[in-house]
Amino acid sequence: MNAIIGQPVNRVDGPAKVTGHATYAAEFDLPGLAYAVMVLATIPRGHIRSIDRMAAEQAPGVLAVMTHEDAPRLAYKPIAQRPQVDAQSGEQLHVLQDPEVRFNGEPVAVVIAETLEQAVHAADLVQVEYARSPALTIFDATKGRPPSEGNVKAGRVPELGRGEVEAAMAAAPVRISARYVHPREHHNAIEPHVTIAHWEGENLTLYDKTQWVDNDRKEIAHVFGMEEERIRVISPFVGGAFGSALRTWPHVTLAAMAAKRVGRPVRLELTRRQLYMSVGFRPHSEQHLTLGATPEGKLVALEHEVVQQVGRYEEYAETALSPTSHLYQCDNLRARYRLVEMDTNSPCPMRAPGVVTGVLGLEMAMDELATELGLDPLELRLRNYAEQDQQKGLPWSSKELRACYAAAAERFGWSRRKPEPRSMREGGMLVGYGMATAIYHSDRSAGSASVALTGNGMAVVRSAASDMGPGTYTSMTQVAAETLGLPVSHVRFELGDTNLPFAPVHGGSITMASMGNAIVAACQAVQKKLAGLARAAQNGPFAGLPEEAIAAREGGLGRADGSGPVVPYAELLRQHNLGWVEAEGSAQPGEETQKYSSAAFGAVFVEVRVDEALGTVRVPRMVGAYDVGRVINPKTARSQCIGGMVGGLGMALEEQAEWDIRFGKVMNANLAEYLVPVNADVPSLEAIFVPNDDRNFNPLGVKGLAEVAICGVAPAIANAVYHATGRRIRRLPITPERLLS
Ligand code: MOS
Repeated sequence: MNAIIGQPVNRVDGPAKVTGHATYAAEFDLPGLAYAVMVLATIPRGHIRSIDRMAAEQAPGVLAVMTHEDAPRLAYKPIAQRPQVDAQSGEQLHVLQDPEVRFNGEPVAVVIAETLEQAVHAADLVQVEYARSPALTIFDATKGRPPSEGNVKAGRVPELGRGEVEAAMAAAPVRISARYVHPREHHNAIEPHVTIAHWEGENLTLYDKTQWVDNDRKEIAHVFGMEEERIRVISPFVGGAFGSALRTWPHVTLAAMAAKRVGRPVRLELTRRQLYMSVGFRPHSEQHLTLGATPEGKLVALEHEVVQQVGRYEEYAETALSPTSHLYQCDNLRARYRLVEMDTNSPCPMRAPGVVTGVLGLEMAMDELATELGLDPLELRLRNYAEQDQQKGLPWSSKELRACYAAAAERFGWSRRKPEPRSMREGGMLVGYGMATAIYHSDRSAGSASVALTGNGMAVVRSAASDMGPGTYTSMTQVAAETLGLPVSHVRFELGDTNLPFAPVHGGSITMASMGNAIVAACQAVQKKLAGLARAAQNGPFAGLPEEAIAAREGGLGRADGSGPVVPYAELLRQHNLGWVEAEGSAQPGEETQKYSSAAFGAVFVEVRVDEALGTVRVPRMVGAYDVGRVINPKTARSQCIGGMVGGLGMALEEQAEWDIRFGKVMNANLAEYLVPVNADVPSLEAIFVPNDDRNFNPLGVKGLAEVAICGVAPAIANAVYHATGRRIRRLPITPERLLS
């Protein structure tokens, strides 16, 4: 049988998705379903003076109106050990528990009605009178403060570094210094956040959009003071998330409260506009870098400060310093991280949280240094190549970044680049070539899976994992199929249900490194169980053989020495009068985390065309080469990478929340005015995977493939814009008005 890992297998859930048979959270059609709509605060800070709910309560179809005056007081137990996806300091938003207003968009009422239209109409009739207090709506980078203790403990350190940065910087023959800004950005997945809550007595079922069903259950158990066992979360399909569905947001609590109030299942779906205030976003950030180097381009000193916005009721902080700490060799380094409190809903992880920000500053600064030195930007990276993780003092578990540079540069045609800015033109357009490095740390987490071999020759693999789009269904099916020696068509993978074996968060690019190895373990466990039965049998081909003489072979068991026939699993089950046999397996990080530093790497090369009269930037092509360890499925892997490129393109040229300081509010909270790349913006995108197999990191040899793909894209585009025009636009996005000013 051919290897299945490494094959471009089509998405196993593709047919269900394109024919509408895939059931997303909003689509579970429960008898008696009622609809809830939130009313959101319209002031940035203050308190509610009064709520007039009479008109809403008397509107047609309305079942209940719930405000802080009559909502049940919830437990909100302290979460002793918070999941990594939650803010590590401060307190999550407590909904409808008091008259305080903490940000513009905080829920102040929920209306539940027979139909969605009736609920929307009645929500409009709720009259709220507010008393406004002074609000913090201005981002002032000089007001930055260090992260609080909880965040520091979780690795969001206020400072890190090594060596003697001041002396080295003062002595550096060449220096550059610059400040970079990127705005608040929003995830804008196609599927909005939605929850259906259904109480049966004291038991609660949630159909939810989430990247982590197990955490959803844990959070709601804490909020309501319930036992986790009473909650089941079901989430088989997720229509994109990018980090917005890692956490369990307040609307999930509201849906459960609403369902309890009316004694019926209730659906609460956020509108596109509500998504901008009810789930998180990538925080606005400003960063300052100073680089010191020798005339030959050797970095001798590096200073980096990142300042980000944060909400006031809880403190979400990012690992924005991590790329600077280890991407390049530099003996003298100081990096600082600061937070500016604002009255806003809390930010949250968004596609390569923190890392994409840190890489943006570092890679734009490296380009400025290359210009200052008169050195090719790629050559500058090679001269500062980090042979080990200098901050941790550990070797990389594997690093094929040189191969990434070489492959992408070759494919892109980097050698055709003329070094001078404004030196390349075509068809009346300025042409620019830019590049940047990408890095994203690779982690894994403990998870488990079960495998059942059934009498009809199928394997059913189960785990409470998620698939927000990268292809978890498909790639896990491949891992199981290859391990069991079955064709892909004989394996079914089930996920997204708390009744299934525990899986870690579907985020941080850890899913394959975590769950892939758990599935291998589960497949091996079920094979072993079957082999044990076969050995113990009175008769049959394996009766009485020693354990080591039996091995899993293609689609069944055979002799370990390769002699004799393979007995298919289904036949073995028949011989033992079994309908099925099942086993669980798990995998977790081991001592490799002490021995190695692990990361995925990439090199991104971009061409831009700039129309100087109009200030428009077009990106006709982009080439990325990636070291992500072993690639399970090159087709879905390519999809991830070109998706990351599109996300980076949006970040560089289009995405920006327009924040009004008078209202503490995003004014363009819709997809007409918050620009994201559309087909016409998306050029030829090419993803190359350099060969690697990182067994130092985990037995499957994979690294994280996901978030590395957005890192490096925006700086590569900004650097190409400089090459085309001779102008450094240090504030993203690079809009026509900024290019023309
Ligand atoms: Mo990703 S921001 O970990 O979903």
